[in-house]
Amino acid sequence: MATACGKVLLFGEHAVVHGVEAIAAGLPDGVSGEVFARDGAERLVVDAWSIDCSADDDSRPARAFAALLRALPVAVRGRSVRLETSLPAGAGLGSSAAMSVAIARTLLADASIDADESLVFSAAMAAESVFHGNPSGLDHAAAMRGGIIRYRRATPPQIGSVTMGAPIRILVAQVSPGADTARMVHGVRTRRDREPRAIEPALAAIGGVVAGAIEAIEKADLRRIGELMDINHGLLMALGVSTAEIDQCCHIARSAGAFGAKLTGAGGGGCMIALVDAQSVSTVTEALRPHSLRLMDVTLGA
Ligand code: PMV
Repeated sequence: MATACGKVLLFGEHAVVHGVEAIAAGLPDGVSGEVFARDGAERLVVDAWSIDCSADDDSRPARAFAALLRALPVAVRGRSVRLETSLPAGAGLGSSAAMSVAIARTLLADASIDADESLVFSAAMAAESVFHGNPSGLDHAAAMRGGIIRYRRATPPQIGSVTMGAPIRILVAQVSPGADTARMVHGVRTRRDREPRAIEPALAAIGGVVAGAIEAIEKADLRRIGELMDINHGLLMALGVSTAEIDQCCHIARSAGAFGAKLTGAGGGGCMIALVDAQSVSTVTEALRPHSLRLMDVTLGA
């Protein structure tokens, strides 16, 4: 079974689109795939997300599947893929990236082609471009690697790992249905074009947050990681991607004892994360529960 993991963005989302470094963590939940037919038809079936399409259909998943097939060697053609997943779709947890990476790996393995990292990355980029317009590549880099990664958009992309001084425990709360990532990314670009003297320094400040966060994660300095999450959230508010519900949940989590809290992902709805430890986890969980559609307790690096 070929796999790819879901992701949570810890620091630097949106700024990463503009060349700033970002930090993401792979989730234990992910997507696995298998080829179920080699009869020339190219079908994609994901029961968990109600997807059953053919590569020449017009839906978004079908167009992403077709883009991915075009980006892979022709030897993978004519196969149908079924994916299994426990990841929620459209919640900002990297479902489309995990799907893209899992399809690429499944097809390459079935055709006995070496799943070279740059080939999987560029094929997943082709699919993610259908979902997100102008993706930075951060989501599928995280889906490919797992663990905590640092990522900078470049040619070739700069992907490295961050060594954790100790495991990190976060609560991931889905506060509302996620918004369209392409629309949110476009909104930031528009705001930057309208007010470059305000937004460019905010993007650079997110770069400063990321640099500090890498040091803090390596030293397992939870207070500093939490403070940097709070700063990052304030800067995401300045970019215009947070919502009243997400801001409220960040306040609630901090008041209940979280070290820090921030939006995660594209925003406009979707998920927030709160940094907790064994002492604070239950109070923060109970405080967030009434405001969450879904709540996950994730230990990174366990
Ligand atoms: O939609 P999400 O949660 O996968 O977040 C995308 C991350 C952005 O930085 C907003 C966009 C990108 O391409 O990196």
